[in-house]
Amino acid sequence: MDPIVIPDEPRGLDSSDRKFPPEYDGHFDRLLITREEIKDRANALADLIHKDYKGKRPVLLCVLKGANNFYMHLSEALQDLCQGFYTEFLRVSSYDGLNSTGMLEIGGGLKYKDIEGKDVILVEDIVDTGHTLFNLLPVLKSEAKPLSVECCTLLSKRLDKPAHYSAKYVGFTIPNHFVIGFGLDYNELYRDLQDIWVISQKGIDFDQSTMH
Ligand code: HPA
Ligand code: MG
Repeated sequence: MDPIVIPDEPRGLDSSDRKFPPEYDGHFDRLLITREEIKDRANALADLIHKDYKGKRPVLLCVLKGANNFYMHLSEALQDLCQGFYTEFLRVSSYDGLNSTGMLEIGGGLKYKDIEGKDVILVEDIVDTGHTLFNLLPVLKSEAKPLSVECCTLLSKRLDKPAHYSAKYVGFTIPNHFVIGFGLDYNELYRDLQDIWVISQKGIDFDQSTMH
């Protein structure tokens, strides 16, 4: 099943009923994807995964911190389908603010033996340049020797040049803007939003030291 395409042009979503902390006022250019749309899409992705992994127990490997929110939705949807799975967590960061630093830090206490010989589904918030997965996957494959590895990402950014990696399960493809919310951050802010938004210049310029 193809991903849902979020078009480049604004869809004119009504954002007046959206909830967010007051300190974020003015930090968004537009509402990009609602939490209701995310939930529906997580259910559809769980259906796909269930079709492919019926009778197996894949390891759902959550890439922290960003994928946490999506992971919860996806695992609930898999539970509804009586699909068994293991849960593991891994922490990587390759972003510093808006720019890919080119550096990948892997941590979070994942023990390679926990995924050895197992079918692994990496759960990601976003595939942007694909840099993270392009660098992470070879390490995982050679160090942990899983039986198989696929990636399930909530978002995939449409870029001018082809990404380094494309995921098997993709929730939405999105325009080339910096997006925040539903786990996705900008300098550790905005993970606490229920919906996904495009950040505004005011959000980018915001001085966190003014907050308590
Ligand atoms: N938003 C938040 N985090 C990200 C993005 C983005 O657009 N791309 C890669 N990491
Ligand atoms: Mg980040």
